[in-house]
Amino acid sequence: MIDSRPIGIFDSGVGGLSIAKEIKNFCPQENIIYFGDTKHLPYGQKSAQAIKEYSQKATRFLLEQDCKIIVVACNSASANALKEIKNLARERKIKVIDVITPVAEKVAFGFDQQVGVIATQATVNAKMYTRKIRRFNKHIQVYELATPLLVPMIEEGLSKSDISKQLINRYLSHKKMQNIDTIILGCTHYSFIQRWVDSFYEGRIKIINSPLIVANELKIFLEENRMQAEKSTQDYFFVSDLTLNFTKFAKRIFNKQIQIKLIKI
Ligand code: DGL
Repeated sequence: MIDSRPIGIFDSGVGGLSIAKEIKNFCPQENIIYFGDTKHLPYGQKSAQAIKEYSQKATRFLLEQDCKIIVVACNSASANALKEIKNLARERKIKVIDVITPVAEKVAFGFDQQVGVIATQATVNAKMYTRKIRRFNKHIQVYELATPLLVPMIEEGLSKSDISKQLINRYLSHKKMQNIDTIILGCTHYSFIQRWVDSFYEGRIKIINSPLIVANELKIFLEENRMQAEKSTQDYFFVSDLTLNFTKFAKRIFNKQIQIKLIKI
């Protein structure tokens, strides 16, 4: 069966664009609706209660757009509000894919033993990576480290700069990150600084980046449930606060001018 409804994706800002981009690579026939909750950015510094409220609003908005699936392209929301998001989606029989579960499953079934996670404070507080990975594999040690300055830096468009490199080096010098064999970039914004992480470890450790894993999970789900669209016609991008940074970033990621609409939610 053909299902031409769009795929709904949300994050607090530009981070989820890394997931959106990979989804378009894996499933070019699909339409997407992206929502960046830029007004409430950064989620990672907010309380779990605030993240739940923002995530519920974002989910309701995407459900109103008749999305066939919701992708929570934000670790902070996945770690703190997944139950609430799923409850809303379940009322309409809509599946939710979060960014933590497929990554944790992949890591748990690998051969690695010492796994580091860098993420926002809200994600680290929730300890969802540790719980999920160790539920599948008790032999793995997980070390989570909050790296809160990275999101504002990336949102400012500084991911390629030297400041970015210095800040990452400083964070990764923490003793928790010294003896790991794998590192999870536990914030969707961090896809944009992967090369600095790789250069810090001089290519010695495995870097797990969620966009590929999440896009693959989505593709398989759509195929297995015969929910693929036939042809992409139009993607939509919405934000809760229209910022120049978001516009510039979206253009850079998709390599074309992107129409972004401001909404009040
Ligand atoms: N990109 C998000 C995440 O994966 C949120 C970053 C933030 O708003 O703090 O956690």
